[in-house]
Amino acid sequence: MQRILITGAAGGLGRVMREKLKPLAETIRLSDISDMGEAGPNEEIVRCDLGDEAAVLDLVEGCDAIIHLGGVSVEQSFDKILNGNIKGVYNLYEAARAHGHPRIVFASSNHTIGFYTQDQRLTPDMPMKPDGLYGVSKCFGEAMASLYHSKFGQETAIVRIGSCFPEPANYRMLSTWMSFDDFTALIGRCLSVPRLGCPIIWGASDNDRGWWDNSAAGFLGWRPKDNAEVYAASVLAKDGPLAADDPNAIYQGGMFTRDPIHKT
Ligand SMILES: NC(=O)c1ccc[n+]([C@@H]2O[C@H](COP(=O)([O-])OP(=O)(O)OC[C@H]3O[C@@H](n4cnc5c(N)ncnc54)[C@H](O)[C@@H]3O)[C@@H](O)[C@H]2O)c1
Repeated sequence: MQRILITGAAGGLGRVMREKLKPLAETIRLSDISDMGEAGPNEEIVRCDLGDEAAVLDLVEGCDAIIHLGGVSVEQSFDKILNGNIKGVYNLYEAARAHGHPRIVFASSNHTIGFYTQDQRLTPDMPMKPDGLYGVSKCFGEAMASLYHSKFGQETAIVRIGSCFPEPANYRMLSTWMSFDDFTALIGRCLSVPRLGCPIIWGASDNDRGWWDNSAAGFLGWRPKDNAEVYAASVLAKDGPLAADDPNAIYQGGMFTRDPIHKT
């Protein structure tokens, strides 16, 4: 590919993918509302607010694929979520429509289904059960991906990321963790498979304690290689056993199910 756009490039995952996705394109265009430092070799830096329609239209021009990581990534007030995750996703899909439908990898979240309990094994066709306004905004993003696929043929990999961090940090993440290497490989498959469509993919490593059935995404040929179980002994020594009424032991969305509706 000539140019891949990464939104949210100043964030936790964006900073990792800035390095790991280099081999996939001649140029990586990096964008965020926050500072991303200097452009390195084969990098372009575009600072912009996803809520700014005209800026996003310019941002997407000339890109062959978009890794959409930008936006609010935790529970916040509706106003904060509205700009990045609702207007921002609309702006992104409209810009993609204007510029030839570059393939999109959309960073959705397990918080679209957070109110399912941990004894339930989920397939992607099960109804959403968001656990907060952030989760609702990711449901909106998934609906935009579906709409633009049905109406315009826009292809999107909807990746419901579990917990993508260097290591699983608590009991719940023994089920939800996805390693950076597995996410990188998944993005590579999403961008290279001849026909992507608009699948919902569970973004998790091959965890023994996983809750999610990814068989519908088998056509991607993605085989996660890591397993949170390697960290189980050290995680459980710090974070377990949990009380029976602890949300981290009951709900797939863990503590997000306890968040209030933030007003500011
Ligand atoms: N890390 C995880 O485990 C995880 C789990 C589920 C979903 N996700 C999703 O993956 C994506 C990346 O996650 P992360 O952990 O790197 O989050 P992060 O909060 O570290 O990064 C998000 C980035 O988006 C930028 N941003 C926010 N609002 C913006 C706006 N209006 N315009 C432009 N940029 C804006 C922020 O400045 C930030 O750099 C997010 O969309 C998040 O919801 C991540």
